[in-house]
Amino acid sequence: MRPLTRRQLLALGAVGASATAAGVAGLWLATGNGPGYTGGEDLTEPQVLASRDRVLELDLTAAPARVRVGGRDASVQAFNGSLPGPTLRVRAGDTIRVTLRNGLQAPTNLHVHGLHVSPQGNSDNPFVSIDPGGSFEYEFTLPEDHPPGTYWYHPHRHGHAADQVAAGLYGAIVVEDHDPVPVTRERVLVVSDLSLDAAGNLAEVDQMQQMMGREGEIVLVNGQLRPQLRAAPGERERWRIINACPSRYLRLALDGQRVRLLSRDLGRLPIPEDVTEVVLAPGNRVELLVETRDGSAALTAAALDRGSMNAMMGGAMMGGAMRGDNESGGVPVELLTLAVSGSAGTDPGPVPEGRPLRDLRNEPVIAARTLNFAMGMNGNMGAGMGSGQGTMMAFTINGREFDPERLDVTAAAGTVEEWTLTNSSPMDHPIHLHVWPMQIVQDGDRDVTRPKWQDVVNVPARSQVKVRVAFDDFAGRTVIHCHILDHEDQGMMATVQAR
Ligand code: C2O
Ligand code: CU
Ligand code: CU
Repeated sequence: MRPLTRRQLLALGAVGASATAAGVAGLWLATGNGPGYTGGEDLTEPQVLASRDRVLELDLTAAPARVRVGGRDASVQAFNGSLPGPTLRVRAGDTIRVTLRNGLQAPTNLHVHGLHVSPQGNSDNPFVSIDPGGSFEYEFTLPEDHPPGTYWYHPHRHGHAADQVAAGLYGAIVVEDHDPVPVTRERVLVVSDLSLDAAGNLAEVDQMQQMMGREGEIVLVNGQLRPQLRAAPGERERWRIINACPSRYLRLALDGQRVRLLSRDLGRLPIPEDVTEVVLAPGNRVELLVETRDGSAALTAAALDRGSMNAMMGGAMMGGAMRGDNESGGVPVELLTLAVSGSAGTDPGPVPEGRPLRDLRNEPVIAARTLNFAMGMNGNMGAGMGSGQGTMMAFTINGREFDPERLDVTAAAGTVEEWTLTNSSPMDHPIHLHVWPMQIVQDGDRDVTRPKWQDVVNVPARSQVKVRVAFDDFAGRTVIHCHILDHEDQGMMATVQAR
């Protein structure tokens, strides 16, 4: 990996300028008002498959699918033909058995994002590869003390993850609460983004979009454009929101309604917190309690500055398309509308306090390490400007691109480690560790005083975050990576082993 030269910067700038034209079209489409799209239908939810007698057995086929999106016919890729795939509902201690069939033209596999299950064999093993036409029997067993929460599944085959998630392959997993929260109703809201060409096929992605992390032109909730929800005043809803976009950050707000944060990624907060906005990096989930008031409200995703390559290049590049913020150019995207009217519902009663969270700051740390996430130039600038896997940037962890054969981090099972995640690049990277969630203990220079657990932790440009990880329960090898899936596919991933 070599630092950029001035000449290379200017070459990149030229690409940026030509990409700007596409960015303008993105502005229209991102609001859902673009030519050809219509929104505003009643919200639908994917089919629910729930465990019985501690087991959930299902078939999932990943294949091309023809669906309706925003009033248009679209050729996407989906699990079992639906966008998103079915919602899986299980409890701690349950076993999920999935027969995954690959009906795609490329290799694939399945990852259960956020679940604390074994990374080995036919469990949550990111090294599995299923060829086109092939199938694989997965079995995931959740421990008896698995935290409740909202999780999700998606393909994780290195080199294809961004393409396949962007194409429509994702679905929700709910691990039910031990102590139910009284609500009027619950909703699962899977947010994704998508780019279609004029014929309704998946749009081509270019190298610049892969380097920035692609953002789809329209943002969908459960595969729908700006769906409508209805409720009566005085109700309490629980929204389980998943950011299934390959690269887009979501800064969410729902004006005019009382919103409390119940959960972030895993478990639940002991006491829900009033919020006016929440930020979800790619892969993050939140559970919100929405207490309804008369009127209509919109759930919006505001633009968020996640850095740019321009910053790295001292302004040598031009054009908004080079930036990593939403392509809507600052206009918030409306994700859904909530219409509240009618006679008041019955008060669902108080929310019982959740269990206190484990605090790893009270536990001995056995090892400390630093993982640095970096971007640099890769190979020959002049060559290979077309689309394809390799781009001109190298995406590395501690100076190395992903190698599935190499062991990068070995932790002793049963111990707690402290990791400093540093980002020497000019873009944010949302860092995700499989199997073991992370407790954030320091964010930049700021100590995080209350236990804050996440499985995707955003590390801002030229900044750092300190986390602690308890290598509980499982031995085996898995991965840590950037959840801007284009960065992961380009090498920003490392292996982690517990033994
Ligand atoms: Cu949601 Cu390793 O990913
Ligand atoms: Cu994951
Ligand atoms: Cu990244």
